[in-house]
Amino acid sequence: MQEDKHEAIMELAKRRGFFWQSYEIYGGVAGFYDLGPLGVRLKEKIISLWREFFVKKHAHIVVEIETPIIAPARVFEASGHLEHFTDPIVECLKCGRKFRADHLIEEKLGIKAEGLSIEEMTKIIREHDLRCPVCGGPLSDVKLFNLLFKTTIGPYSSNTGYLRPETAQGMFVSFKRVYEVSRKRLPLGIAQIGRVARNEISPRQGMLRLREFTIAEIEFFFDPEEPVSDDMFRELLDQLPRRKIRILTVEAKKKGEEKPFEINIEEAIREKLILTPWLGYWMTVAQEYMHALGIGYDEMYFDEKAPEERAHYSAQTFDQLVRVSRYGWIEVSGHSYRTDYDLSRHMRYSGEDLRVFKQYKEPLVVKKKHLLWDKAWIGRTYRSRAREIFEALSRMNPEEVLKQLEEKGYLEIAGAKIPKDKIKIVEKEEKITGKRFIPHVAEPSFGVERILYAVLDHAYTVKDERVVLKLPRLVAPIDVAVFPLVKDENIIQVARKIWLSLMNNGFYTIYDEEDSIGRRYARVDEIGVPAAITVDYQSLEDNTVTLRDRDTWEQVRIRINNVVDAVRDFLRGASLDDIKHKYG
Ligand code: GLY
Repeated sequence: MQEDKHEAIMELAKRRGFFWQSYEIYGGVAGFYDLGPLGVRLKEKIISLWREFFVKKHAHIVVEIETPIIAPARVFEASGHLEHFTDPIVECLKCGRKFRADHLIEEKLGIKAEGLSIEEMTKIIREHDLRCPVCGGPLSDVKLFNLLFKTTIGPYSSNTGYLRPETAQGMFVSFKRVYEVSRKRLPLGIAQIGRVARNEISPRQGMLRLREFTIAEIEFFFDPEEPVSDDMFRELLDQLPRRKIRILTVEAKKKGEEKPFEINIEEAIREKLILTPWLGYWMTVAQEYMHALGIGYDEMYFDEKAPEERAHYSAQTFDQLVRVSRYGWIEVSGHSYRTDYDLSRHMRYSGEDLRVFKQYKEPLVVKKKHLLWDKAWIGRTYRSRAREIFEALSRMNPEEVLKQLEEKGYLEIAGAKIPKDKIKIVEKEEKITGKRFIPHVAEPSFGVERILYAVLDHAYTVKDERVVLKLPRLVAPIDVAVFPLVKDENIIQVARKIWLSLMNNGFYTIYDEEDSIGRRYARVDEIGVPAAITVDYQSLEDNTVTLRDRDTWEQVRIRINNVVDAVRDFLRGASLDDIKHKYG
């Protein structure tokens, strides 16, 4: 048994087939991981639960799309990624190795460097005579390195494309289309789950910093003047079991606070600790989602990022942090208020009008002042210049005219003087049916592989010197195992029938008859199979089998005819007592 839980998880992941470093036979490449058979199943279940929480339970306000991984350069010019999606890099002038400058400063000097300018970092490196950690050579000045992976689209080398670093731009670029097919209503969330790529400088944290990974995110579009009706917000919050979240604000950190505090979500919004209700709402859903994945409420919190730590598009960001054994608090999701930044930029770069029109329930009737002037008098007096004067008058703001007339008794315009009695200001009623505006966006964004790692870290337990992976039943990669107690032909026949029936009813099921029953239980405990069905001699007499709970190792006898229903109930959370009562 390994002392270090992280090492033990990495060993288990490789040995049993959750994940391992990619391109192993070529020595491996940092920042790339393969998912094995169990990893794929676990990831699929994590994603499926995400869909459940964020899309299905919000089907009236959230839709899901899928857009390409490669985008033309123009998209990332518009989004600001070509300019801003950078990390600071420093090169050893002797051995040529390159390092992420802020990480090197933090690791070697213990100085917090995130958000410092490249000049400030260069200064720190010079002042402390920081040298190459590998060969001791001198270091270059700090430069910026763009993290976008570059490619070409088609056979023309000038046709540059980039791999997306977030799925979000797909939602912004196709916002207009999705809005139109979604009955032109706000609020509207557009969700996407997909692969993204970031050319990280020197990723070293296993599954936590990957060069290619999966994001699950929502761009949630709303009217900034009227983000949500009270009724809709109450109805949504009423669905949540818990309205308190733990946050650590920038304000609190400035006062020296290091520990998050608990606050009611409505209060946090009212007090403007969270700038828009939708950001707060999705944070609360994110908390429930991570809780359903086995993370205790006190094992996570939302950490507000300071302005210099935020992405270029964000007016406010909270990172959802989860505590894991090796690395302490790690980010599993980011919650950003992206305002109208992205849509405005795409509007400017594409020339398309991406505003929406909101029809008022009742047209607004407003009184508007209009300017009238004595055309005949102006014509007679100013002759060939009259036309120019009319045009200038039509551009004037009536309020401004009124002010001049009151102050001076005449209006000076286009080099002409128009006396007060030649100008009239009348009030007319006008109906305004709606408004045109650029929606604002709140974005909850999840790194799926990070979640997978955090879930494994929290599920990993040791009991009687054996590993038991206590994954929440709903996300376990394999639902149920079926074992014949011994290699007896009659027992095997019954067991195989049960195995086939469970598989045909949609459960991921494994069948195993090798080794002692104790070893077989140990094998499935180690990969987190929640339930095991065992067929024994008694089964041949009374048509019952045992259902064993991975976490308590307790067993109940149930009727063979009821195995499918019992397993279904058990996976949905029923206790062994309930199962015994209902199916025993
Ligand atoms: N879309 C969120 C991110 O880029 O991290």
